[in-house]
Amino acid sequence: MSTTGPVPDLAGRATACADRLLDADEVLLASHIDADGLTSAAVASTALERADLPFETVFKKQLDETEIATIAAREYDTVLFTDFGSGQLDAIAAHERAGDFQPVIADHHQPADAETEYHLNPLLEGINGASELSGAGAAYVLARALEARGGQSADNRDLAALAVVGAVGDMQAVGGELVGANRGIVDEGVAAGVLAEGTDLSLYGKQTRPLPKLFEYATEVQIPGVSGDEAGSVRFLEGLDVDLKEAGEWRTWVDLTDDERQTVASALVKHAVQRGVPAKKINTLVGTTYELVDEPRGTELRDASEFSTLLNATARYERADVGLGVCLGDRDGALDRAQTLLSNHRRNLSEGLEYVRREGVTHEDHLQWFDAGEAIRETIVGIVAGMALGTDGVSASKPIVALARKNEAETKVSSRGTGTLVREGLDLSVVMGEAARSVGGDGGGHDIAAGATVPAGEERAFVDAADDIVADQTG
Ligand code: C5P
Ligand code: C5P
Ligand code: C5P
Ligand code: ZN
Repeated sequence: MSTTGPVPDLAGRATACADRLLDADEVLLASHIDADGLTSAAVASTALERADLPFETVFKKQLDETEIATIAAREYDTVLFTDFGSGQLDAIAAHERAGDFQPVIADHHQPADAETEYHLNPLLEGINGASELSGAGAAYVLARALEARGGQSADNRDLAALAVVGAVGDMQAVGGELVGANRGIVDEGVAAGVLAEGTDLSLYGKQTRPLPKLFEYATEVQIPGVSGDEAGSVRFLEGLDVDLKEAGEWRTWVDLTDDERQTVASALVKHAVQRGVPAKKINTLVGTTYELVDEPRGTELRDASEFSTLLNATARYERADVGLGVCLGDRDGALDRAQTLLSNHRRNLSEGLEYVRREGVTHEDHLQWFDAGEAIRETIVGIVAGMALGTDGVSASKPIVALARKNEAETKVSSRGTGTLVREGLDLSVVMGEAARSVGGDGGGHDIAAGATVPAGEERAFVDAADDIVADQTG
């Protein structure tokens, strides 16, 4: 059994964290409410269970001082934080010093200045936390260390599948492919027989969407006459020399044979070239896909990208229990409930994008922003902002800042950038943190995607402060 796991650089930290957990009588596991946070919790809780450690799992929309105090008030002596915790290290360390609980943190967000020994984060070892290892990846590294240190016979490599869903859910793929430490996790999953990697059409919905919908709804690449065009999409498919229906019903992409896929994909590329879609965009039509081979074909669970969206559809709507149930193997019909939540989530995303298209964004010198008020739920406004970047009227050469009402007193902010902007110096975790603190709020995250909470009424001052900081970073 390997003691270094998939990410040797993190082995020392993982071992320290595992040993602290193995010393505990029971553990409170706290995690974040998105796809990566849910898969982090699923990976960590499975590993704790296999190590015979009693635990309870709780989810938080955001970890702030109030939430940490709530956790401290619980009877648990050991608290494992996954997919958050690093950014709140100072508050956590203060509770550790006060003897409230012993923290163990497996995260990938930008750490605050304080230090604790039991802190597993790729950024502490020079590994990128936005593209090389996710929260679920950090939890996986910990799971492998727990297995090694606990002397278990159980092999935690099967959890690599969920770690990959977390990384894909956090949009960590670079040029369509997982890289860096994530790569090591993919390799372990393939070796353990739970994952298959392939090159395929990169559109969302290959498992579950009837073919015309797969093409009509594709937002990743805009293909004139097909994208957003129901009749055009049907016409395109009917013009091909392949029988794409079965008993009168459209088939899905995964129902097609390799030859049939080849025919459709080539025709799509040809159609896109003829309609003037740039080669750079056309190249992104094909990418690496990650299949969970133990999951049923034709369900969201089979494809890492569809799986992650299914999870966002639960936890971002206060139903983390449903998402966790799905990750842990459809306990009590969780999959059915998640699918219902998914149709609601997809409708909200599409209405959110429509809102941005209709209302437009306001351009400052160094960023662009919109305030959705109550029109977009604060838990998904970041997803909408990310999907809007680079579409009509939304420039890809400036970061986008999206605001939404959180409650009477507070406004939620989400920001998204691009790889190119980050290479030019953009660090949105700093922008969100500093601009928010300058108006009495707080924030953080990653260089390419970050968020904040600001007091109601301070939105304009916040946007101005953020614009200045972006100017300093990229100027
Ligand atoms: O809280 P957490 O780290 O899980 O969320 C990461 C967020 O950053 C996600 O919303 C993800 O889509 C976004 N992101 C992005 N582009 C990247 C990396 C992350 O939009 N390249
Ligand atoms: O919060 P973050 O930015 O990671 O959210 C991105 C989410 O949006 C992913 O879960 C991704 O699967 C989903 N998405 C989608 N449809 C698209 C593009 C992204 O549901 N066309
Ligand atoms: O909420 P949103 O999807 O915009 O979050 C983007 C990233 O910023 C996530 O990684 C999230 O955990 C982080 N974030 C943060 N502090 C906040 C809000 C968001 O670290 N107050
Ligand atoms: Zn994450």
